[in-house]
Amino acid sequence: MKVLVTGGSGFLGRRTAAYLEHLGWQVLLPSHGEVDITAEAELHEWFRRHTPEAVIHTAAVSDTGRCQREPEWSERINVGGSATLAKACREYGAKLLICSSDQVYSGSKVAGPHLEDETLAPNNVYGCQKLRAEQNCLKILPETVCLRLSWMYAKASLPNEHSHFLATLKGTLADESKPLLLPIYDRRGITDVADVVKNLPKALTLPGGVWNFGSENDSSTYDTVKAVLQELQLDAALGRLQKNEEAFAVLPRDLTMDQSRCKAVGILFPTTKEGLRSALKAEM
Ligand SMILES: NC(=O)c1ccc[n+]([C@@H]2O[C@H](COP(=O)([O-])OP(=O)(O)OC[C@H]3O[C@@H](n4cnc5c(N)ncnc54)[C@H](OP(=O)(O)O)[C@@H]3O)[C@@H](O)[C@H]2O)c1
Repeated sequence: MKVLVTGGSGFLGRRTAAYLEHLGWQVLLPSHGEVDITAEAELHEWFRRHTPEAVIHTAAVSDTGRCQREPEWSERINVGGSATLAKACREYGAKLLICSSDQVYSGSKVAGPHLEDETLAPNNVYGCQKLRAEQNCLKILPETVCLRLSWMYAKASLPNEHSHFLATLKGTLADESKPLLLPIYDRRGITDVADVVKNLPKALTLPGGVWNFGSENDSSTYDTVKAVLQELQLDAALGRLQKNEEAFAVLPRDLTMDQSRCKAVGILFPTTKEGLRSALKAEM
């Protein structure tokens, strides 16, 4: 399979490319400088020359705070760039898989775990952009596979990448002078990026539509970490665990996703607690 991975220098793109190469796929990995997804004519010319059979689209402005501060610039990349890719895929007959986010469920009036066909009204710029990207891509190319990813972490960090939940958690666990302050009003799946990556080949074979794609979690971030530390009998760390009662207190957040649709086609993830437990255990 000849596949274009956009965002190949990013957290997910780098690991995706390495995994697919390991499977023997032909991975096309142009840098942002070589292929800017917002430059339509250049992108079409690139497709004409390289003819990918599939595209795994991980390029984005993934920093939610930056999207909030710079909505027009991030809209061009997150919404416009995704639509441009969908048009190129339609023209050159490539299967498209895009990375959406559990943030589309922010502002939801119903409690999680959320289902793919719920009515959505995201309450932040990033969530709105991800939802519009899904809608536009599906309109342009109905076979587009839109994966709603949860928050991701990596067991091992790579140079020059953004931080992630496990790295922050491990840093705090290692510094005995610091409290372990975690929100009680935030509930979301947190997934090992390796589990996302290894499920991507199968995801590419899915019919077009929207798929929740990550670890299930039924607890707040505070309760999740508490349960994991208890199971691992990390008593000193448990003693430093504190409830952050301010974060999300005004608008409690529940981004947890129901995975039934993926499970029905054999795409499986460990739960967030199972994943974090195995990641922390590997460090002990
Ligand atoms: N990380 C998470 O926890 C998480 C959770 C849910 C969903 N997601 C989604 O998953 C996908 C991957 O996230 P990530 O964390 O891997 O992102 P990331 O580390 O921030 O990487 C983003 C990538 O996009 C590239 N890029 C940005 N603008 C571009 C443009 N105009 N043309 C071409 N490339 C461009 C960047 O290249 P340069 O650095 O060279 O600009 C970088 O390689 C994104 O769609 C993100 O929204 C991520």
